[in-house]
Amino acid sequence: MSIYGRSRVKVPASTANLGPGFDTLGMALSLYAWIEMEEAAETVFHLYGDEMTGVPRDKSNLLYKVAQMVFAEAGVTVPELSISMYSEIPLARGLGSSASAIIGALAAANAMIGSPLGSAKLFDMATAIEKHPDNVGASLFGGIITAVWDGEHADYIRIEPPQELEVLVVIPEFELETVKARGVLPAEVSVSDAVHNISRTSLLTAALAAGRLDLIGAAMQDRLHQPYRAPLVPGMEKLLAEAPGHGALGIALSGAGPTVLCMVDRRELRKQELELFLTETMRENGISARTLWLSPCTTGVTAELLERNGMQNGSFLDMIKGELQS
Ligand code: HSE
Repeated sequence: MSIYGRSRVKVPASTANLGPGFDTLGMALSLYAWIEMEEAAETVFHLYGDEMTGVPRDKSNLLYKVAQMVFAEAGVTVPELSISMYSEIPLARGLGSSASAIIGALAAANAMIGSPLGSAKLFDMATAIEKHPDNVGASLFGGIITAVWDGEHADYIRIEPPQELEVLVVIPEFELETVKARGVLPAEVSVSDAVHNISRTSLLTAALAAGRLDLIGAAMQDRLHQPYRAPLVPGMEKLLAEAPGHGALGIALSGAGPTVLCMVDRRELRKQELELFLTETMRENGISARTLWLSPCTTGVTAELLERNGMQNGSFLDMIKGELQS
């Protein structure tokens, strides 16, 4: 009989960069993954949903490996786990699916053994795995985060998203691995491009903190990564240039792409026009894509400890169904 409880976690997706804030800015989004974890006689996975196709079901699984890092850090031994996961976050599209898996696994493993690790420790561990704090910070803390990573420790400030802010994403059907999208970036940039991005990132951070939606368009401009990544997402240059003329406050590649994200004022009257412009532009470039209206998610990962009476997969799925319907 295990001395540890069964944990259940809900973790949001995220977008990174918001244009100029490369590897620094992140925002949690109202799209989720759920994880349950408990000690078992032998390791077993229950992975549900289209987004779980092809995910390893052995000890090479990311959730399992991340959970073991938590146990090692806390000085406990839990070699065999039962792990359930359902995710509505599309894989390799720039919506932080791997970051949400890392944060979900850290939170689930930590909750299971009585939460010995604090959120600052979990943030450092997650950033050490991802190598940049933007997506993991947003999934951990919710809202908008601005963060820096010195190779060992991540510092951050969380910003409450402006209430009028809504998000429209256009998600191409093709996947783009982050490693490929990082591989096209130059090793060095000019001082003028660096100044361009420092000034826009500062303005964007301040505009979001102050609720100045009118400045978002001017601030969401980037010269560090989007120009180099544009060839990987056909149609992206036109989207970035013209979406503000169809009702977007600002537009950026979401993380490493290929999803493109618009910030929109909830009161905007041209929402349908914007949606059509995004999908039509993708279609003109031979890409089928779907749009999704999302909100900034103000809560980060949440973890609860459940009664241990064996893994109830029925109740896990019922719980998710209830959440999806709500
Ligand atoms: N900041 C990262 C990038 C996010 O743009 O490569 C993707 O993981």
